[in-house]
Amino acid sequence: MTLGVVGDPVALVGHNGAGKTNILEAISYLTPGRGLRSARLSDVARHMGEDVYPLWSVVADTYSPFGDNKIGTGMVEGAERRQTRINGKSTTRQSDLAEVFRCLWLTPAQDRLFCGDPNARRRFLDRIVQAFDPNHANRLADYSAALKQWLCLLREGRTDSLWLESLEQQLVENGIAISASRLDIVGRLSSYLDVSPDPNFPSAEIHLTGLLEEALESQGAVLVEDMFAGRLKNARKICAEGGNLTGPHTADFTVLHKQQNRSADLCSTGEQKALLISIILAEMRAQMAEQDRCPLLLLDEVGAHLDANRRHSLFEILLALPTQVWMTTTESQIFADFTGQIMQFDVQENKELKQVA
Ligand SMILES: Nc1ncnc2c1ncn2[C@@H]1O[C@H](COP(=O)(O)OP(=O)(O)OP(=O)(O)O)[C@@H](O)[C@H]1O
Ligand SMILES: [Mg+2]
Repeated sequence: MTLGVVGDPVALVGHNGAGKTNILEAISYLTPGRGLRSARLSDVARHMGEDVYPLWSVVADTYSPFGDNKIGTGMVEGAERRQTRINGKSTTRQSDLAEVFRCLWLTPAQDRLFCGDPNARRRFLDRIVQAFDPNHANRLADYSAALKQWLCLLREGRTDSLWLESLEQQLVENGIAISASRLDIVGRLSSYLDVSPDPNFPSAEIHLTGLLEEALESQGAVLVEDMFAGRLKNARKICAEGGNLTGPHTADFTVLHKQQNRSADLCSTGEQKALLISIILAEMRAQMAEQDRCPLLLLDEVGAHLDANRRHSLFEILLALPTQVWMTTTESQIFADFTGQIMQFDVQENKELKQVA
């Protein structure tokens, strides 16, 4: 499919199963990582039965004050990883994508982020951190590979090996850097979270909870390194017997709704959605101020859980953003107050919806 709309907010409208989220997902593949559904590469293409993995690609022309680019990415014959071309040049580094295109997204799967799976929360946090610290993704991958090998060695009973010590060294170095980066970015985000653009979208405070994150708040990095190295040595026996290790891979965060002075997990569903929107908008303002970047915004099921008043405020905020927003909805009438300002596209009919004032 070719998408070629420049500038105005775009609303993809259609019934359940029409293909709205698929389009947002395609756009999300123009950035590094696994896209907005966190899907496995084999699940991205159209399912055509057991062991049949068709090829797929997304091609986009992007326009911004920082330059125009042609980006292509997808699975090609014979490759195990997705391939990327930027302005006709192949690259193996997905981080190159972040140099030319960025987008932020919210999906219905995140609606219960504050109450649900801590792994999903950590992924959400790390995606924010990656936008500011390009090395964060590599450190996470290295930490996770070292942890896997360390657990494997222990469970095979190889407790004396030098290899084990070298893996512990990698866990300490990457672990401290990961946690320090999370603390740094959350700290930088706090001033943007403190100032809400609209009373319907609350100010928020993010508090990191995690062994190293909490230790780094009160102690220097060297002391925390020693503490974590000691913890790893002491945890060898318990992990060899199938126990778990605490570290950056188990860190979490809580969010405070400042106006209500209430933890996000106790807020109503609509209040939680408003908090999530506040966080995404704060991230966008931080990227614009600190990095001269203006990410595209993808909002799947944009109206879900928001009352009419909050929806109206949201659309006003979105219209004032110096970037393009792509939204989906099953109900085109939610845009009734914004006729002519939001381009509506009927996904089923593959054509622009006529808007009558
Ligand atoms: N990998 C895949 N292979 C085949 N079909 C798929 C795949 N992924 C999604 N689909 C199908 O594509 C269709 C469109 O899905 P999509 O999630 O984009 O719908 P939607 O318009 O967002 O619907 P909703 O309003 O329910 O969120 C669905 O019928 C879905 O089952
Ligand atoms: Mg959908």
